[in-house]
Amino acid sequence: MGIDFLRDFPDYEGEKKPEKISRWFLAGEVSRVPRGKIRRYVLAGRPVAVFNRDGELVACRDKCPHMGADLSMGRIVGEFVECAWHQWRFSLVDGRCKKEWACLELYPVRVTGSSFEIEIPVDP
Ligand code: FES
Repeated sequence: MGIDFLRDFPDYEGEKKPEKISRWFLAGEVSRVPRGKIRRYVLAGRPVAVFNRDGELVACRDKCPHMGADLSMGRIVGEFVECAWHQWRFSLVDGRCKKEWACLELYPVRVTGSSFEIEIPVDP
């Protein structure tokens, strides 16, 4: 007779993943990231790359999912950031890459007057 989880462990709810928590952090002045440029910030102890794509600010962790290069050392090509090391391109719209497994987690950005804030995951 095998294990019947519903019978043998009625309170089992599966392996719980830790809840993901994020907070808004003031990054600085919008003017510090001119159109078409990339800047690096350190917020909550995390490196963050901020891109100005056609006047829209986009942020993500400043680390390429391929081999860890600083994406802030890359360049903006259309809607993509091109990594400086191996030229993989990641969409600044949805974070996707042509390499299926590699994707950027984009952080929400909000502009308040002349400054902007970024919502960054933090440890619980
Ligand atoms: S480290 Fe970015 S493409 Fe290889």
